[in-house]
Amino acid sequence: MAETVWWKRGTVYQIYPRSFQDTNGDGVGDLAGIARRLDYLAWLGVDAIWISPIYPSPMADFGYDVADYCGVDPLFGTLSDFDHVVAEAHRRKLKVILDFVPNHSSIEHPWFRAARASRENPRRDWYIWRDPAPDGGPPNNWLSNFGGPAWTLDPATGQYYYHAFLREQPDLNWRNPAVRAAMYAALRFWLERGVDGFRVDVIWHLIKDEAFRDNPANPDYAAHLPEINRFAQVYSADRPEVLDVIGEMRAVLRDYGERVLIGEIYLPMERLMAYYGPDLSGADMPFNFQLIQTPWRADAVQALIENYEAALPEGGWPNWVLGNHDQPRIAARVGERQARIAAMLLLTLRGTPTLYYGDEIGLGHVPIPAGRVQDPWERNEPGHGRDPERTPMQWEAGPRAGFSTVEPWLPLSEDAETRNVDALQDVPGSMLTLYRRLLALRRAHDALSVGSYRSVPLGLPGLLAYERAADGAVLRVILNFGEAAHTVPLPEDCGWRVLLSSVPRNGEVVRGSLDLGGAEGLILLRV
Ligand code: NOJ
Repeated sequence: MAETVWWKRGTVYQIYPRSFQDTNGDGVGDLAGIARRLDYLAWLGVDAIWISPIYPSPMADFGYDVADYCGVDPLFGTLSDFDHVVAEAHRRKLKVILDFVPNHSSIEHPWFRAARASRENPRRDWYIWRDPAPDGGPPNNWLSNFGGPAWTLDPATGQYYYHAFLREQPDLNWRNPAVRAAMYAALRFWLERGVDGFRVDVIWHLIKDEAFRDNPANPDYAAHLPEINRFAQVYSADRPEVLDVIGEMRAVLRDYGERVLIGEIYLPMERLMAYYGPDLSGADMPFNFQLIQTPWRADAVQALIENYEAALPEGGWPNWVLGNHDQPRIAARVGERQARIAAMLLLTLRGTPTLYYGDEIGLGHVPIPAGRVQDPWERNEPGHGRDPERTPMQWEAGPRAGFSTVEPWLPLSEDAETRNVDALQDVPGSMLTLYRRLLALRRAHDALSVGSYRSVPLGLPGLLAYERAADGAVLRVILNFGEAAHTVPLPEDCGWRVLLSSVPRNGEVVRGSLDLGGAEGLILLRV
């Protein structure tokens, strides 16, 4: 087990670069800021950083609209700043995972500029163009994920182009071999610079139905949902041929040794599993967002874990996610006390955990005044915007929380004076201390990182319990999703040492049963 590949053993920490650390006083984070905070990440105990896009971009979708797949936007720095981050990360034994956004480029990408120049342009077929419907409207009923039709008419050439997201993000035509070759060259460009893997944006979108059939109506649509949900995305995404593409990407990575391919996929469990690919030729880790989508109840989470474990293909490695730059903060969703239980869950389940920056200090939903809205989705569909979970990291008390010297691009949380790394570091019982201790424990115990998983049914409402085991060591995790205290029975034939508790009781050895407080979590070692 000692040889298990790094991305199975390790934990990933997502950095949203605009919001991590500003060093040049423009209110937006940058690569030099990431380099400055690597010591913190090493101290925290994560193993890899995933950096959201840093490519040249008009920033219509804050970097998810790429104008050059092989460069760095001046807002974030230069290629040599990037090389410095990689070198300094590696010096601290941290891996670097890049966000790769192959489904769509920016409207400003030279490829798209050429494509829209004329119907005859050799780049035309690099994007997805269709004639108008007979009434002059869009070619089919596909909708944009950010609201409105997914087709925009280009009046000069008389055709519509397809964009699953903003009209500033035209989808590339992945059925065109030249597009594939260009994208694989971009992957190699970064692999040669030493990146350890990629998180691939909306990977299930890459191939669309060849006949562009209308999506069927979604019977479960309700008005509070974003408009995209009016139709089931049956033909616009998740087409079987996408697995060939992912297999090709994996083959590119394989030439470089132990690199990881993580796929962003929002699909139901059975479809998600397909993305491991035939004979595991697909994504190493199709992102598992089920914890984000499951009600925060012990019984629901237990069922989820069991279903997920059972659905995994033979040899497929699990992974778990509590939040990211597109989802409400975990502390906002379940409250601060349960956010501690969530941290314990994330870092003790079988499978690679991905942490979202700021969750380790318990950052919550930061309200955004109307005049400061940034996310284009919020403008299109109010209430669905993602700014509240993208606010700056809070490093210390004082002006701008150590993030910047000027007003940041998004506001800080109101409690930044007390909710910051400096204030919580080395404070027993703080959220940050809990995260750090969990990460240390995960490193210290093979059972937690690569051991087996077994549910332990306790029959007590609100409690979730399971065991992780490796090489004869058995760890039992007991998490209280409720506020009621319980007396929890334990197997009588051994003692249990408290390795970590969310309240001060560490080191204690218990036998027969233990008293568990409301919202308390425990990790026990069989002795
Ligand atoms: C998924 C990304 O996580 C999200 O932030 C982005 O807006 C869309 N893909 C479009 O790239």
